[in-house]
Amino acid sequence: MAYLWAKMTALLVAVAALAAGGGAAARPLVGAGGAWEDRAPLQTSRPFNIAHRGSNGELPEETAAAYARAIDEGADFIEADVEATKDGHLVCFHDTTLDDTTDVADRPEFAGRRRTLEVQWANVTGYFITDFTLAELKTLRAKQRWDFRDKSHNGFSPIITFEEFINIALSANRVVGIYPEMKNPVFMNKHVRWADGKKYEDKFIATLKKYGYGGRYLSPAWRARPVFVQSFAPTSLVRAAGLTDSPLVFLIDDVAVRTEDTNQSYDDITSGEYLDYMKKYVVGIGPWKDTVVPPTKDNRLATPTDLVAMAHARGLQVHPYTYRNENKFLHFNFRQDPYAEYDYWINGVGVDGLFTDFPASLRRFQEWTTKKKD
Ligand SMILES: *[C@@H]1O[C@H](CO)[C@@H](O)[C@H](O)[C@H]1NC(C)=O
Ligand SMILES: *[C@@H]1O[C@H](CO)[C@@H](O)[C@H](O)[C@H]1NC(C)=O
Repeated sequence: MAYLWAKMTALLVAVAALAAGGGAAARPLVGAGGAWEDRAPLQTSRPFNIAHRGSNGELPEETAAAYARAIDEGADFIEADVEATKDGHLVCFHDTTLDDTTDVADRPEFAGRRRTLEVQWANVTGYFITDFTLAELKTLRAKQRWDFRDKSHNGFSPIITFEEFINIALSANRVVGIYPEMKNPVFMNKHVRWADGKKYEDKFIATLKKYGYGGRYLSPAWRARPVFVQSFAPTSLVRAAGLTDSPLVFLIDDVAVRTEDTNQSYDDITSGEYLDYMKKYVVGIGPWKDTVVPPTKDNRLATPTDLVAMAHARGLQVHPYTYRNENKFLHFNFRQDPYAEYDYWINGVGVDGLFTDFPASLRRFQEWTTKKKD
């Protein structure tokens, strides 16, 4: 089974890389350390297409299959949440618990692992990722989070490590960026200990360095290995800034959510004074899109806030999340048309990148409208 999976993943990655090459499909695949100069560069002339947890609108999130599909579909960056296992390995996974996106509940051997822990101001009950070793996690299979999405791929894909994720990007035959998040760092540092005394953030940045990531935004080093490191936690960003010159992005949650490490409110972290402070460490912000343009109670758009203007005035990029095709996520102003939503955000609001569950749709919108950022 594991062998079959490895073959399938390799095939998926190869197919994706070939398809993404378009006219250059005959070009041989190049891996890490390969002929970098032959690869089509990352586009930087229009807003970035960031494949949120891979092409997770189509395939179970954060799996090799979802990332390969996103590359196939033309994403500029593949995005991942990085968490730690009980034995200190870094893996791609979003929730602190395994319940909603894996088959853990169907595994009698793990039934005793279910418990309650405090996660960011709330008590959560479930199977915590930090209670499982990497070998145990590898026996689980991913599933779609939501009932209204295609479930036919449930039960096939294992959880992948951060290093496997990086290798998927590096194996593409064009330059594909990575956009990993330091996810739930307070929780990870509380529940996982590394023998060498290092912190979660240290392990995260060390992994990036191992694969040659480093260099300021748009530098030649960055263009060879494009990366944005994202986090909701200001202290993790400040720590990371001391370890790497890779560009960092400050994520901003819903107005009701306080930061997990510094317990700051939305108003605290979006003040001009605070953005002036953060811009010493980050190149951009990644706000929940409803904080940029709040919705009304009847699912229309209210007046935009000045967050984008405030960020741009400070030279900060704005990469909002998350764009989703399904009708239930589209405000009525967009007439149930995801392209109308992209048009509004790219050409109206003027954002610099978009986290999308459907990178194929964003890619098509951008190809068809050929609107340039420069
Ligand atoms: C979580 O549960 C524990 C034990 O019942 C309690 O002491 C604690 O206050 C709870 N935390 C939250 C955030 O509700
Ligand atoms: C976080 O800040 C709020 C508002 O000041 C306060 O009510 C709350 O007790 C704080 N939480 C913690 C865990 O310090």
